[in-house]
Amino acid sequence: MTWERHPTTWTRNALHELIRSEFRDVRVIAVSNREPYIHRRGPNGVECAQPASGLTTALDPIMRATGGVWVAHGSGDADRSAVDRRDHVAVPPEEPSYTLRRVWLDQTTERRYYYGLANEGLWPLCHVAFHRPVFRQEDWESYRRANRLFADAVLEEADGEPAVVFIQDYHFALLPRLLKERNPNLTVAQFWHIPWPNRETFRVFPWKEELLDGLLGNDVLGFHLRYHCNNFLDTIDRGVESLVDMERSEVWRGGGLTRVRAFPISIDFEQHTLEADSPAVAIHMERWRKELGNGHQFLGIGVDRADYTKGIPDRLWAVDRLLESYPEYRGKLLFLQVAVPSRTQIGEYQRLNQEVEDICGEINRKWARGSWRPIRLCSRHLPQIELMALHRLSHFCMVTSLHDGMNLVAKEYAASRVDEDGVLVLSSFTGAARELSAALPINPFSVEDMAEALRTALVMPRDERARRMRALRAIVRQNNIYTWAGRVMGALLEANNAPGVFGHSQAMVFSSGVQA
Ligand code: G6P
Repeated sequence: MTWERHPTTWTRNALHELIRSEFRDVRVIAVSNREPYIHRRGPNGVECAQPASGLTTALDPIMRATGGVWVAHGSGDADRSAVDRRDHVAVPPEEPSYTLRRVWLDQTTERRYYYGLANEGLWPLCHVAFHRPVFRQEDWESYRRANRLFADAVLEEADGEPAVVFIQDYHFALLPRLLKERNPNLTVAQFWHIPWPNRETFRVFPWKEELLDGLLGNDVLGFHLRYHCNNFLDTIDRGVESLVDMERSEVWRGGGLTRVRAFPISIDFEQHTLEADSPAVAIHMERWRKELGNGHQFLGIGVDRADYTKGIPDRLWAVDRLLESYPEYRGKLLFLQVAVPSRTQIGEYQRLNQEVEDICGEINRKWARGSWRPIRLCSRHLPQIELMALHRLSHFCMVTSLHDGMNLVAKEYAASRVDEDGVLVLSSFTGAARELSAALPINPFSVEDMAEALRTALVMPRDERARRMRALRAIVRQNNIYTWAGRVMGALLEANNAPGVFGHSQAMVFSSGVQA
C-alpha cells in the first residue's frame, strides 16, 4: 500500500495498516516534555492520571496504534516508583500498548528550561498575545542541557537501529540537530503545536541562529497552518544561511533538507463521540445537573487551561455585557468557567488566576438575584468524561483565545454533541477557526462583539443550531487525529522516498537534492 492510495477519511485501522505496511520493523519514538501518564501520591496511594494537555491527548491514540516508546519528562511525585531499571513503564495502565520512558530533570533545570525559556520566553514570543517574553541566559543554558538529556535518552532507545523520531513542540528546538549529529540515520520529524510568529517578532529572540539551526535538523517540520509555515520559511530566509524554496516549502542547509508542512491537529472523533453517547456520560450529566441546580434556564461553558492566551477575563466581561444589554437573561443564564490550573510557578499565571477569581466575584456581586449568580468558576482539572457531560448540557461553548495554534476544546465540543445541538462561539484567532467555519466567529479583543455573539447563540433557532453542528461534526469526523498522523507519516515516507526502508534518509536527501 502506498501513501497516495490512502483514504481521505482516516481511521485508527487505516493508520495501523499504513504503519504495518510502510513502517514495518521501524521503531517509533515520540518525544514530548509533558508525559501522557503521570503517577502521583494521593490519599488512596499512588494514582495514575492523564494530564491536561491537548498535545498528549492527541498523541496517545497514535502511540496506541504504532506501539514504540514515548520519551517524556517524569514530573509526577510518584513517577520514579512506577518505572523499571531502564526508566520504562508500560502504558496505558489498563491496556498497555506502548512504553513510556521517563527522563529526570533536577529542579533547577526544570525551572529554567520549562518554566523559564520554554514558557516565559518561547510561549509568549510565539503567541503574540501582548505579553512580553522574558529571556535569561541561564534559562537558555538549561534549555540546552535539557535538550541534551533528551537526546541521550532517545539515542539510547534507538540503540543504533533505524528509528523514526517524532518530536513535539517548542521545548525541543535543539533536539533534532543533536540527534542528527550523533546518528544521521535517524528520521526526525517535529510538530510545533503553537503558532510561529512573523520574522519581525521572532527577531528579538537572542539565540535565534542556534534555535533555527536546531529545527533544521528535522527531515519534516510541521505546523498547524500554512500561515505558520510561511512565517517560519520567511524567518529562516532572513535569519540563517540556507536555501529556502518557498514554492516547495523546503529548506536546504548544510546538505540536509527540511520539509515544512501544515498538518492541522485534531482529536479521535469516533472514540470521543462513542464515549460522549455512553451511559457513563449520562450519569455525569445527571450529577452536574444537580450540582448546578435549576435556578437557570441557559447554560454556557468555557473550558481552558488557565492561560493568558485563552482570553478568559474578556470572555467573563462579555457575559457581564450581555446581562447589561439584554436584561431578559438576568436570573436565567449561568456561565460555567472551567479553568484548569497550569504553570502556576510563573508569576503571570498566578496573576491571571487571581484576576479571573476577582472578576467572577465582581460580576456575581453586581448581578446577584436571590440564590442566582451568573458565573460559576471551577478551578480544577476535570476528567474528559465530566467535560463531555458539560458539553452536552450546555447551550453554548465559548473559545476566546487571543491566539491559539489550533485549540482542541472547539473540536471536542463538536464531537461531544451527538444530539447535534449547542452553539460553538469561536475566536477567529485560533487555528481551529480555519476549519470550523460553521461556528459563530468572534474577535476575543472585543467585549461587545462577544456579547452580541452570545445573544445570537441564545436566540438561534433549533434547526440552525443543528445545521451548524452537523457541519462542525462533519469536518472534525473527516479531519480527525488519524488524518493528522497519516499526513505526518506520509511526509515521513516522502522524506525517505523508499517504502519500507528506513535508515537511509541522508542518502535520500542528497538524491532529491540533485533533482531539486
Ligand atoms: C500546549 C502546548 C503543549 C503543552 C500543553 C499543556 O498545548 O503546546 O506542549 O503540553 O499546552 O501545557 P503544559 O505546560 O502543562 O505541558
